[in-house]
Amino acid sequence: AKESFIRKAGEPLRVWAHRGGSSAAPENTAASDEVARRARAEWIENDVQPTKDGVPVILHDTTVDRTTDGTGAVRNLTLAQVATLDAGSWFAPAYTGQRVPTLAQQLDGLRTRGGNLLLEVKGAHTQDSVARIVQEIRDRGMASRVFVQSFEPQHLRWMRELAPELPLGLLRSTLDADPVAIAKDLGLSAYNPSDGAFQTRPGIVADLHAAGVAVNVWTVDDAGRWNGLEKAGVDGVITNRPAELYGWNTAF
Ligand code: G3P
Ligand code: CA
Repeated sequence: AKESFIRKAGEPLRVWAHRGGSSAAPENTAASDEVARRARAEWIENDVQPTKDGVPVILHDTTVDRTTDGTGAVRNLTLAQVATLDAGSWFAPAYTGQRVPTLAQQLDGLRTRGGNLLLEVKGAHTQDSVARIVQEIRDRGMASRVFVQSFEPQHLRWMRELAPELPLGLLRSTLDADPVAIAKDLGLSAYNPSDGAFQTRPGIVADLHAAGVAVNVWTVDDAGRWNGLEKAGVDGVITNRPAELYGWNTAF
């Protein structure tokens, strides 16, 4: 059986650092990883998309425009082109020279320095691009330290077929009529709603827990709200502010 991601009584919320420590450093870069690591966040969330030549890279938007000094859709750029981009100066001059990491570099960094990866399969993927992600994880022996999430059920179906050992989470910005049914269908370890969606039906926690499925809520940057979610029984929060919020909860 796969590891359960349901929080045990007395345990603190699990913290997943959204795009790294992205309130303090440019998202999805080595710099934001470092912030998350210093905050003792055990999990870093990154988004992964393929380049034109099929290399999985860590980028949130479908284009490089917002978070680099380049322009264009990542699927139309080769790795060689993406590798020249500056992914830090948009955030602050001190971060000039940060790069768009490849998934391989990201996994190598985590393997060397510690930590785990919540990997969001983002944007347009094919079964082949999902297979490439699986290969890079397995080549590095990192399967036990990666959790995969996606808004797209098809991405999770491919992932389950290709890598049954990886735990899966379904992202949702509105709740499904029957979250337990979809969780069972996809073989989910977690159901991950936005906070807005979660508030429409907090009772999903009990239903999903009864089915062995954890609930992680995103993106929560307010300490008071963490407290409320802990009381509501959720298992984890995906946050931009792991550094500030870890300090809030003395259990950490
Ligand atoms: O992990 C939750 C969150 O990452 C989903 O939304 O847009 O930040 O990828 P987004
Ligand atoms: Ca994401």
